[in-house]
Amino acid sequence: MRWGIIGTARIARSAFLPAVAAAGGVVSAVGGRELARASQYAAENGIGRAVQGYLALIDDPDVEAVYIPLPNALHAEWTIEALRAGKPVLCEKPLCGTLAETGEVLAVARETGTPLWEAFVFPFHEQMTKIRGLLADGAIGDLREIQSSFHFVLDHPGDFRMHRGMDGGALNDVGCYPVRLAVELFTGELESAWATAILGGDGVDVDLQGSLGYSGHQRLMVSCGFQRSDDRFARLLGTAGQIHITDPFHPGPDDSFTLFEAGKEARSYTAGGEAPSFTAAIRHIQRVIRGEEEPRHLAVDNSLPAARALDALREAAARDQLGGGDPDGEQPG
Ligand SMILES: NC(=O)c1ccc[n+]([C@@H]2O[C@H](COP(=O)([O-])OP(=O)(O)OC[C@H]3O[C@@H](n4cnc5c(N)ncnc54)[C@H](OP(=O)(O)O)[C@@H]3O)[C@@H](O)[C@H]2O)c1
Repeated sequence: MRWGIIGTARIARSAFLPAVAAAGGVVSAVGGRELARASQYAAENGIGRAVQGYLALIDDPDVEAVYIPLPNALHAEWTIEALRAGKPVLCEKPLCGTLAETGEVLAVARETGTPLWEAFVFPFHEQMTKIRGLLADGAIGDLREIQSSFHFVLDHPGDFRMHRGMDGGALNDVGCYPVRLAVELFTGELESAWATAILGGDGVDVDLQGSLGYSGHQRLMVSCGFQRSDDRFARLLGTAGQIHITDPFHPGPDDSFTLFEAGKEARSYTAGGEAPSFTAAIRHIQRVIRGEEEPRHLAVDNSLPAARALDALREAAARDQLGGGDPDGEQPG
């Protein structure tokens, strides 16, 4: 499998490239806005070639599949270009920064029939398979509530995450993970949303807490932001017990989850899976493209409910009378 990367992103360097190597793939080219920067990136990361411009990368005959780790506001345009060129796409999360764009991209994915994945890799991870098994066995009874957080300190000057025009903000960047977890595990329909946010940068949410209500008495409590140290966690609360997950989204070798069943001793399980956390997803995508597996977790199946939920939280935060802060205020960190 020969991949091409659009843009010289940090996440491609830290997570995607090691996973492609672990999954037996090759990154044959990177496309950048500036050839010099892309060439340096290629040389530093063992990528075969650099090309100038994103269209040149998509049209490169040596590229079989495209990875898109661009700022959020650019995902729709370049995902649509790649899908129309018939190249399977792994686009970074969130698939798009708005509900309207998500609808447009998914319409093109359906129309072209070209496979598209949103780069939430945790649904492919062995940990999620084990947790789904426990839930299906009724280990915690009926799942009623998910409490989940994703925080880190954003200290990268000029980061697109601090800009509205790039569809930045904590909800888009990291709050999307707890929301996707709820979409993965809840069975009901989205019924209500509440949220409050602290604003920073040029008016993006730098910290947000909120909840989503689903039919069947299921609820997500989400907390996300750029203002405190690394925190990725989830508790699944049921009518007969709980599951606590140290890192539901990018589990490493030290991560685990613990099952608390009413009247029984707690049991801990290692998260398992291969490192880095992207590996299982990349391995699957490569097998699908080679015709060896049926596709799972395609964007056309899963991305719209998550985009609707993010939109509901965004609107709820905007309505909130106590939310705010100074949109023109200094960027934190
Ligand atoms: N799945 C995950 O675990 C995970 C983790 C982190 C980030 N992400 C996602 O990955 C994406 C990239 O995040 P990142 O932090 O890796 O980004 P980054 O390091 O800032 O890189 C983004 C790249 O996009 C290109 N670009 C094009 N127009 C740009 C603009 N106007 N401003 C800035 N860059 C521009 C640049 O490459 P050239 O100029 O060379 O073309 C740049 O290197 C985001 O969607 C983010 O949500 C996902």
